[in-house]
Amino acid sequence: MKIGFFDSGLGGLLVMKSVVKMLPEYDYEFYGDTVNLPYGNKSESEIFELTKRGVEHLFARDCILVIIACNTASAETLRKLQDEFLPQLNTNKRILGVIIPTVEEVVESKIRKVLVVATKRTIESKKYEKEFSKASTIVKITSVATPALVPLIELGELDAAFTELKTTIEANGEVEGVILGCTHYSLLAERLTKSLVLKNIKIFTQDKIIPKKLQHYLEMHPEIKNLLSKDGGRNIFLTDNSSRYDSLLQEFLGGALIGD
Ligand code: DGL
Repeated sequence: MKIGFFDSGLGGLLVMKSVVKMLPEYDYEFYGDTVNLPYGNKSESEIFELTKRGVEHLFARDCILVIIACNTASAETLRKLQDEFLPQLNTNKRILGVIIPTVEEVVESKIRKVLVVATKRTIESKKYEKEFSKASTIVKITSVATPALVPLIELGELDAAFTELKTTIEANGEVEGVILGCTHYSLLAERLTKSLVLKNIKIFTQDKIIPKKLQHYLEMHPEIKNLLSKDGGRNIFLTDNSSRYDSLLQEFLGGALIGD
């Protein structure tokens, strides 16, 4: 059986790519809902239905474990998928998100003042605040919605997206860390980290966090790990698979060959 990744677009591919790098032996499936992107401005019920559809697709493709590699969908649907959808299936399959592992990573880093930048829905859900309040009484969090970024990134307008993100971070005063709370934003992380003005700010990106957290999860869950097939397969499915995605896929995958 395989490991599946769900995202509203291509951002989750960055997470899958770094998981594949750390755990290359397993078989992977990616589902990007490019037809319905962006999720960041949609209602909670729309996001739930679309995410459920993607998870069902991945389960039908023999995934035993699905990672919702999308903050917006993790914030709005993960709990409901785990508590209501999975029990109806009476299955040993599992669904995981990206927000709790990110919060754990920040708490472990001992950073006390952190800024979260994410989509409008993620910020409005207050999911980061809720998870931080469970995990730490010390970390102070500021959240800012950056709704223009995902459309810019999906158009390949990386310079404009970088400028917007950097301006937002600089406008939010003294912080020790920034959570890029949208998988798409990881594409801008290297430039941000190199940026002189930001050199003392730690940038948290989920493509760096999720691989080690997943590795740990599999060690703790041999009942899942032992069912994973090891043929090194990778398959990418986009709900809008038009040719305009060809060059963008190259950008997200850095030229790496990940498809079947
Ligand atoms: N990549 C998604 C996330 O991590 C958001 C993209 C969207 O707005 O659909 O939140």
